[in-house]
Amino acid sequence: MVAVTAFSLKDEILRLKTERNSVILAHNYQVREIQEIADFVGDSLGLAYKAKEAQADVIAFCGVHFMAETAKIVNPDKIVVIPDLNAGCSLEQSCPGPQLEAFLKANAAKNYYVIAYINCSAAVKALSDCICTSGNAVKIVEAAPKDRPILFVPDQNLGSWVMEQTGRKMDLWKGACYVHVEFTRDSINAIKAEHPGAKVVAHPECTYAVRMLADEVCSTEKMVGWCRNSPAKDFIIVTESGMLNRLEREVPDKNFIPGPTGHCRCADCRYMKLNTLEKLHDALLNLRPRVELPEDVRRRAEKPILRMLELSK
Ligand code: 13P
Ligand code: SF4
Repeated sequence: MVAVTAFSLKDEILRLKTERNSVILAHNYQVREIQEIADFVGDSLGLAYKAKEAQADVIAFCGVHFMAETAKIVNPDKIVVIPDLNAGCSLEQSCPGPQLEAFLKANAAKNYYVIAYINCSAAVKALSDCICTSGNAVKIVEAAPKDRPILFVPDQNLGSWVMEQTGRKMDLWKGACYVHVEFTRDSINAIKAEHPGAKVVAHPECTYAVRMLADEVCSTEKMVGWCRNSPAKDFIIVTESGMLNRLEREVPDKNFIPGPTGHCRCADCRYMKLNTLEKLHDALLNLRPRVELPEDVRRRAEKPILRMLELSK
């Protein structure tokens, strides 16, 4: 790592950003300092749109690998760098491409319409008919052909929430986010008892038992608008802790309480938290680590992403 004092680090990143003609995109779960320096902070859907329309030569993507990979898929001529290449995702890991391919082959007679949550690898996207995010999953499922069974991968919790919302039956891959399944009915009931007037806002990756306790279940982006427009003052936010940075910055007149897990006062995604200002600095300086993928996989993965972007306009 190149030695840059903490004092000058932000200035140095901004200087490099201009020198490299780059744009910094950051997910809502990133640490506060990264969110503050980013050109755009949003959910995976907003970030996919921003990546697609990016004009800069370099996209510095502060999020997890599948998000940066999506940026490369939709805007392949750009250099896409990520501060830490090890920033993975437990949902992505729960559905390896070869396993999905074997499953589809074994069940070819079913003629599945495959909807993949964006939290998956390019290999899985390449095997899918349409991608969705938590922000548009209901819309995407409603637009799916009525005469074909749906296989929804890899998040069973998001999948079952979408089934509740749409009434459409789907076969669900048994994956889960290791962060969101840590919230429990008891941990959320306990924090509700501490803050009796607070509204509970939960991400759909949470389990059914936790979603049942929520006043609103929505994507990270929709949390911002919901809390802003609600007459309530206090909110228990049942998702990864970085979300509170965004909420506190954009809805400063309200009070946000992190949802506790069964064993911790808040929930951190260890992958999201691998990115730091220092690593972002080095990624812009060295233009590494880069996100690359084979062109044939990229092309096949692009189709279902573009279908999603079109349907969700
Ligand atoms: P959003 O698309 O709602 O930002 O969620 C992404 C994610 O990884 C949730 O754990
Ligand atoms: Fe993946 Fe969960 Fe981390 Fe989101 S919070 S990036 S779903 S491991």
